[in-house]
Formats: sequence, structure tokens, C-alpha cells
Amino acid sequence: MGFFKFIFLLSLLWSFYSLGSSQLQASQAQVLLQLKKHLEYPKQLESWYDHKTSFCYLQPSPSMNISCFSNSVTELNIFGDKSSEKAKSFQGFAIPNVTLSERFSIDSFVTTLSRLKSLRVLTLASLGIWGHLPEKLHRLTSLEYLDLSNNFLFGSVPPKLSTMVKLETFRFDHNFFNGTLPSWFDSFANLKVLSFKSNELFGELHSSLLTLSTLEYIDLRANSLSGSLPGDLKCGSKLWFVDISDNKLTGNVPRCLSSKQVRYNGNCLSLEKQQHPVSFCVKEVRAEEHAEAEAEAEAANRPGERKWKKGALVGLIIGVSMAALVLICGMFILLRRKGVTKRHMSHKTVQDSRPSIGFSSEILSNARYISETSKFGTEDLPVCRQFTLEEIVQATKNFDKTAILGENSLYGTLYKGTLENGTKVAIRCLPSSKKYSIRNLKLRLDLLAKLRHPNLVCLLGHCIDCGGKDDYSVEKVFLIYEYIPNGNFQSCLSDDSWGKAMNWSERLTVLTGVAKAVHYLHTGVIPGFFSNRLKTNNVLLNQHRFAKLSDYGLSIVSEATRHNTEIAKSWQMSRLEDDVYSFGLILLQAIVGPSVSLREEAFLRDELASLESEEGRRRMVNPTVQATCRNGSLIRVISLMNKCVSPESLSRPSFEDILWNLQYASQLQSEDGDHY
Ligand SMILES: *[C@@H]1O[C@H](CO)[C@@H](O)[C@H](O)[C@H]1NC(C)=O
Ligand SMILES: *[C@@H]1O[C@H](CO)[C@@H](O)[C@H](O)[C@H]1NC(C)=O
Ligand SMILES: *[C@@H]1O[C@H](CO)[C@@H](O)[C@H](O)[C@H]1NC(C)=O
Repeated sequence: MGFFKFIFLLSLLWSFYSLGSSQLQASQAQVLLQLKKHLEYPKQLESWYDHKTSFCYLQPSPSMNISCFSNSVTELNIFGDKSSEKAKSFQGFAIPNVTLSERFSIDSFVTTLSRLKSLRVLTLASLGIWGHLPEKLHRLTSLEYLDLSNNFLFGSVPPKLSTMVKLETFRFDHNFFNGTLPSWFDSFANLKVLSFKSNELFGELHSSLLTLSTLEYIDLRANSLSGSLPGDLKCGSKLWFVDISDNKLTGNVPRCLSSKQVRYNGNCLSLEKQQHPVSFCVKEVRAEEHAEAEAEAEAANRPGERKWKKGALVGLIIGVSMAALVLICGMFILLRRKGVTKRHMSHKTVQDSRPSIGFSSEILSNARYISETSKFGTEDLPVCRQFTLEEIVQATKNFDKTAILGENSLYGTLYKGTLENGTKVAIRCLPSSKKYSIRNLKLRLDLLAKLRHPNLVCLLGHCIDCGGKDDYSVEKVFLIYEYIPNGNFQSCLSDDSWGKAMNWSERLTVLTGVAKAVHYLHTGVIPGFFSNRLKTNNVLLNQHRFAKLSDYGLSIVSEATRHNTEIAKSWQMSRLEDDVYSFGLILLQAIVGPSVSLREEAFLRDELASLESEEGRRRMVNPTVQATCRNGSLIRVISLMNKCVSPESLSRPSFEDILWNLQYASQLQSEDGDHY
């Protein structure tokens, strides 16, 4: 017991330093030690002693730091002292005392590295890493920040990296990349920083790069990029820093750059100062004839490549559907043989939610996003199919009034129904939608159908009713969901619901389930569903009081959404906070009871403030909660709630933080057994 108390104290202490830290899984520690070996035991990693090292709690230093979340490494930054800036004679082979030795294999290094699946931030700078960057780096699908500067990487940048759609920062400065500058940076929905300073990239500088709407900073200094940029280029609105100096660019400087911090010395641009004569760039380019020919060949290939991408996507969708079909058959046989065995839900879903495929902006604007299809704990969920109108009519007894479960101006009427095989379902009838073509609507429904998570009410299928008229106007859209029998979270929060009022542990379990579902909606699909109408009565409970979120993602098919898909990205960003705020209100209701949602905001703020004091808590917190909670756990959730409903949207936490805090509160609640 004393030991556990000590550990607990230690973890409490640590939580002051780093919110997201925890003890590392043994396998991850193993990976770190292997990396150390691959890197030939640099002195920056001296503190990585052996398996017993508490990697997550190591004192961060300027040359090394690690952060963890849920037993996995999420951040790894190592700065070595093998700078490549001094070495100008690299020929693609190991150089003693400059690069890692010739025994180093970048392939096995990256294989090992890619087992750190939860990495979001990775810096491996000045470590003497040499070789062709292997494409399997793309397995680090959660990565947002990648810095491999000051190494000896050469060849071209693997196109597969375009699937790392979460990347925001891409820094490959001072390497020896000598392919063409990739043209797939528009696959990243959130790319902010792109830096390839001092490499040997050649080929044309595609002007589209400067038009990316999210890009803020681009440094392509000291390469051999050629071509010219159109004078009337429309620079991305966030762009503020551009360095294209010391390349082989010709022509004019685009006008839109004049308002930015821009450097362009050492090219052959038509300017008066600090430029080479045009012959320098053109001659130089000729000298690289072979290279240019290659670049051209690639440029010529590109349209074909796009078709190929589309083809691949269609192929993929067909493939997935086939796999799904096989799965259904398999499941059917299994069910018949063994009867249904309920699976326990997995706590792994957080780490496992990762996107799978990158998309060009064209596909993005078509809203054709694909989520990872196989997800832990979702194997039992039935696959979405198309229903016929007859089935819907039959299931609802021709839309009988007694079958109505609820009505809503935005999202239509909700019916309860029974399918022919006896399955109970909930059928949402969305109002007529004139905005989307049938094709577009189908894409949207397909996307919605891909959302699969144990804590989401499962979408069984959909049906588009064209009213028997032409093929272009949609009368109604029906969404068929599994029926969740046991009421909603709201009805379990007040003491009026006699015998049903949940105790604090149960509330925490439900809240954690909801947070997992929303975390999945935000990050498990590309590029995420951010407006999910979070409310206590949208949190349904099954017979085991297991939380299932309903009415999620509906904004994608309803009328009441944005008209312009081009603002999709900013739309998501602004809505991101909405879910957090709404979740804050759910937390509040879980603490004080359901009536709170009806009150005004100003009044709400007073209540929030008084929850900080012990006396205020005694007065306001729901009696069942008071009777069943441990103080530390409650206080943790109150402080989390306060952050969620903060008027400053920037200071609101992410769902990852929310999850961590809830899990921590559950841990505090269950300390020393279950007596309160
Ligand atoms: C780790 O180091 C990087 C670079 O020095 C720094 O930006 C980051 O904040 C550090 N992180 C931690 C947790 O100390
Ligand atoms: C790139 O650099 C490597 C190593 O210096 C060299 O072997 C290779 O031929 C170069 N490729 C091109 C296209 O220049
Ligand atoms: C490499 O560095 C070590 C120690 O710094 C030195 O003793 C050795 O002579 C160096 N070797 C070469 C080839 O420069």
C-alpha cells in the first residue's frame, strides 16, 4: 500500500511538470534503447540507461527531451553534434567522425523508429544519419512536427510521406536531397512550415506551393530550383516568410510577395541588384541536363499520376467494400455457430485512431475522406448498407405517429422502427436537401458510414429518396442507426430519476466514453468531424450503461452547413472549440445536474466560480455525486470543466488533454479501493 501511495505521490508531482506524462510501455522503452544503438550511442543519450530507465521522466536537456501520453512516447527530440554543415564532400557513403559509421542502416533505423506509433513531434538533428530516406517513415501517421535537419539524407523525398496528413512542420534543412522538390505538399491539410534550406533539390519551383492556404513559412534557400513564378500569383493568406535565395530562378518576383518577409538574392530574377545574369541560371540548368530531363519527365507524368491516384482510391473503396462483404459473411457464419459474444471495449482506441491515406485538395473539397477502416473494438459492428424506401416504410409502419421518437427542425424527425429480421432501429429522416447532387450526397453518406467507434451509435445504413422524380433532386435522406434502448445520460444525472441516478464513477466512465468518441471524430478520420452537437441527451446508454454518442457528424449531410467547401479548413478550426465548449457543459451537468443547461451564460459563470470553493460545492454539486465522489477526483473534473468553457477559445484543452484528465480523475476516484 505504502509503495502505491508513493508511486501515486510521484505521479501527482510529475503531473505538475507535464500534463501528458506517464510510465512507458516496456516495448516502447525497448524501441528507444534500440534507437540509441542504431545512433551508435551518442553522448546526448547517456541518460537512456537500460529498461528500467523512466524515459518519460528524464530531465529534459537542450539536446534531448521526451514526452509521453498514455504509456507511449509522443515527443522525441534529439540534437546531436554531427553537423552536416561543415561536410561539403558527402558522396553518399559514410565518412568517419562525420556521419554515423558504414554499419548504420537507415532502413532498419526507420523500421525501429516507426514503432513509436504515437509520435507527434520528432526531431533528429545533427546525428550523422546518412542514406536514402525510407518511405516507411510514413507509418508515423500521428506526426505533426518532423525535423531531420543537419543530417546526410540524399536522393528524393519519398512520395509516400504525403500520407502523413497531420504534418504541420516539415524541416529537412542542411541535408543532401538531390531529387526534385515534391509537388504533393497540398496533401497536408495543415502544413505551416516547410523548410529545405541547403539541399540540392532541382527542377521547377511550383508556384502552387506558395498558394497553400495554411502555409506560413517556407525556406528553400540554397538549392538549384529553376523556373519562374507568375507575376500575378495569389500567395496564401497566412504566408509571412519566404526565402528562395540562391537558386536558379528567372523571371519576375510575384507581386503578392512584396508584402511578406521575402529573400531572393542570388537568383537570375529580373531585378537590379544581387542577381546573376540569366545565362548563369540557364547554363547551370543545362549543365544539369540529365537532371532537368528527369524533372520534365516527372512533370509530364503528373497528370497521369493524378488519374492513377483517383484510380487507386476507387480501387481502394472497392477493395474495402469487398473486404467488408467477406467480413459480413464471416461474421454471419461465426454468429450462427457461436451466438453473439459481446466484446469488451478497448482502451487502446485513443492510440489506435490514426488516419490512413493522404488526399489532394481536390478530393478534400469533394469531402471524400476515408477513415481507417479496421479499428480496435469495432470488429463486431455491422457494416453500413443501402436500404430501400420500402424497407423504411415497413420498418416505421408507414411513418406512423406513434413511432416518432423526436423531432428537430435542423435534423428532421427521428422514428423508431423494426426491420424485417426483428432488429430494432432508429431512423432519422433528414429534410429534403437541394444543395447536393445525388453523387455528392452519396459521397458524404459514404464518409459518414466510415465513422466506426465503440462509443458512437452505429450507422447501419442509409436510403436516398428521390421522390420518384428525376435523378437530380433529393426529397429525403434516411439514416438508419442501431437502436439504443436505455435512455440517455441526461436522465441519469438528476436525483429525480429515482434508482437511475448515476454515481460519480459511473459518470466518469460515461464521460470518458464520450471523450473517446469525440477524440476519434476529431483525429481518427481525415480531416475530422468537428461539429457534433454534443449534449447530454445525445449521449445514449445501452443496457450495460455503456455510452454511445448519437447525432454526430450530421452537419456533413444537413442543409444547415457551410455553402462553400473552400472554407472547409477554417470552418473546422473554428468549430473545434465548439465541441470542447459543449463538452464542458456536459461536464458541468454531470457535476451539478441537468437543469443547468437552461440557465443563462452570465449566471453560469457565477456558478462556475462558486464551484471553486468547498462551500459552493456543498451547495451546488448533485447530492448523489457528493455522496459518491472522492474530493480530488471531483476537483480535477471541475478544473477541467472550467478550462473547457473558457471564453478564450485558445486556452481550451484538446480532446486528448480532456481524455487524459478524465482518466486521471478516474484513477483518483479508484485509489484505495471503492469506498468513498
Ligand atoms: C524539447 O526541446 C525542444 C527544442 O529544444 C523544445 O522546443 C521543446 O519545448 C522541448 N520540450 C520539452 C517538453 O522540454
Ligand atoms: C544524389 O546524390 C547521391 C549521393 O551523392 C548520388 O549517388 C546520386 O547519383 C545523386 N542523384 C542525383 C539524381 O543527382
Ligand atoms: C575521430 O575522432 C577521434 C576522437 O575525436 C580521433 O581520435 C580520431 O583520430 C578521429 N579520426 C579521424 C579519421 O578523424
